Amino acid sequence: MCGIVGYVGYRRILPVLLDGLKRLEYRGYDSAGVTWPEEGGLMRVRAKGKLSVLEDTLEDYRSTKSKVGLGHTRWATHGEPTEENAHPHTDCTGELVVVHNGIIENYYSLREQLKKEGHRFMSETDTEVLAHLIEKYLDDDLEAAVRQALKDVTGAYALGVLWARRPDMLIAARKQSPLVLGISENETFMASDIPAILPYTREVIFLDDGEMAILTEQGISICSLENGQEIEKAPQQISWDAAMAEKSGYKHFMLKEIYEQPQAILNTFRGSIIPDTGEIELPEIGIETQTIQRLKRIVLLACGTSWHAGLIGKYWIEKWAGIPVEVDLASEFRYRDLLMDEDVLTIPISQSGETADTLAGLRIAKNLGSPIVSICNVLGSTITRESDGTVYTHAGPEIGVASTKAFTSQLTALYILALFLAQKRKSVSMQDAATYLKALMKVPGIIEEHLSKWHEHSRKLADEFYTKADFLYLGRHLQFPVALEGALKLKEISYIHAEGYAAGEMKHGPIALIDKDMPVVALVPGDHVYEKMISNVEEVKSRRGIVVALGRQEDEGLKRISNVMIGVPEADPMINPFLYTVPLQLIAYEIALARGCDVDQPRNLAKSVTVE
Ligand code: G6P
Repeated sequence: MCGIVGYVGYRRILPVLLDGLKRLEYRGYDSAGVTWPEEGGLMRVRAKGKLSVLEDTLEDYRSTKSKVGLGHTRWATHGEPTEENAHPHTDCTGELVVVHNGIIENYYSLREQLKKEGHRFMSETDTEVLAHLIEKYLDDDLEAAVRQALKDVTGAYALGVLWARRPDMLIAARKQSPLVLGISENETFMASDIPAILPYTREVIFLDDGEMAILTEQGISICSLENGQEIEKAPQQISWDAAMAEKSGYKHFMLKEIYEQPQAILNTFRGSIIPDTGEIELPEIGIETQTIQRLKRIVLLACGTSWHAGLIGKYWIEKWAGIPVEVDLASEFRYRDLLMDEDVLTIPISQSGETADTLAGLRIAKNLGSPIVSICNVLGSTITRESDGTVYTHAGPEIGVASTKAFTSQLTALYILALFLAQKRKSVSMQDAATYLKALMKVPGIIEEHLSKWHEHSRKLADEFYTKADFLYLGRHLQFPVALEGALKLKEISYIHAEGYAAGEMKHGPIALIDKDMPVVALVPGDHVYEKMISNVEEVKSRRGIVVALGRQEDEGLKRISNVMIGVPEADPMINPFLYTVPLQLIAYEIALARGCDVDQPRNLAKSVTVE
């Protein structure tokens, strides 16, 4: 969604804001804007399009000496991406500005009311009502006016406010949209996500729902939006560093993140497993062994790519821990009639820890008494704070909008969590657990060894197929969700229509689509459904479909019936989802590149979906 950055300190404002926005551009990139105090008033510069357009527009203002300001990069919800709708938005006087991430649900009635009271609106956004509402209540106490205004508002917000008459401070407020504050000597920051402030500080405070913060050069004070009472919050230390959120010579973040997967997977299991004995330690699991032993069911809850990780996790948990697993799309889960109690464990899976639907689902499950163990990549994010415990993925910041290393790290976390649950329930022997852990340990090495070969194959394949209009991805068992993920990657970044299907379902519909122009990507490892997959490939072939097979390097039979084959080393079937995912990511990347698409910032998408 949108990205907010704010700064008060001793540095010149524009480089700080632009650098911060660049690091947040993945959240939205249809327009951007900045504001800062200047000669008793406020400067406000906005531009439609990517951040680079704003940067060009700002050339004339580079000399500003201001050390305070706010910036915003937008992902449109209300009103088209135009300069008028770009943030920051002002009140009638132009002396007060707001930047906002979220949705003000009652904006229409508020707007009509404010118009009647004489306020003049300049944009179609929901955000602008916030500026006018604060203006309505503003006397000379900005904090009181913000608190008062937010009492009238329903919806979600992360908010930054700057007032020309208090040019030494910023106000931040939060309800259901993420906001992180940064502290360093004689400077303070606010941002929608950690990477924006990483070059300056690793001391952060996560603002919680219903909290407001006042940022000055001297520090940050936090109070309750409800009653203004001060809230004490100690800063946390973040382990990420700024270099982790940079491209480091790669053409795109997505490519860098694909190549970082061996390390991300290793970092996620390292420290939690002792492969020789089969032991697993998850100190932040947050639930008792007795709770695990009495579980009747597990619900995996997620959106997008994280949901695909959940679909794979189901196979591992059911196989090893013997607990029935449901995998729910959070946006569906939250509106169902749920049958849950304290014997049903909910596992929300989220890279960002801020996805609105996943968070809403978590809260509903919690209210029904379900214990919550999340899988998440961001320490201190809302989902982790509202869970009983968390299994962290240690993928580092993921910037490319199409998720890659976060996905394989989620698989890693699910794999060890499944074995952990199994051990607590004594449904798997330590010896078997050790065998599975040893298989997992091989994953980083195998990926590392094959990355450049897979990449090379993907380039050739892209050359041949980048003009195709449709792709079908087929897999069975563990490879079925991998097929879904492969299709999602392709459609997200190349805008080619792609569908993932359980190969056994092909005859129930998609087979009608197959013709000589349709590449069918078939995932065919040498597992217990190998013969079934081969039959499906034959069926594609006999309808003149183009078969792109991923299978064992030495599988000559498969090679013979495929038009193109990418070899994947033979491994324990349980780790195949890792190995079959990576070439599919590279295929999507190379096809998108060949079609001239913006790989890191595909149209209409945003990395973190913090509204419904
Ligand atoms: C967006 C992203 C996806 C991601 C999904 C869920 O759609 O573009 O890459 O899988 O949100 O995000 P989460 O942070 O909850 O994993």
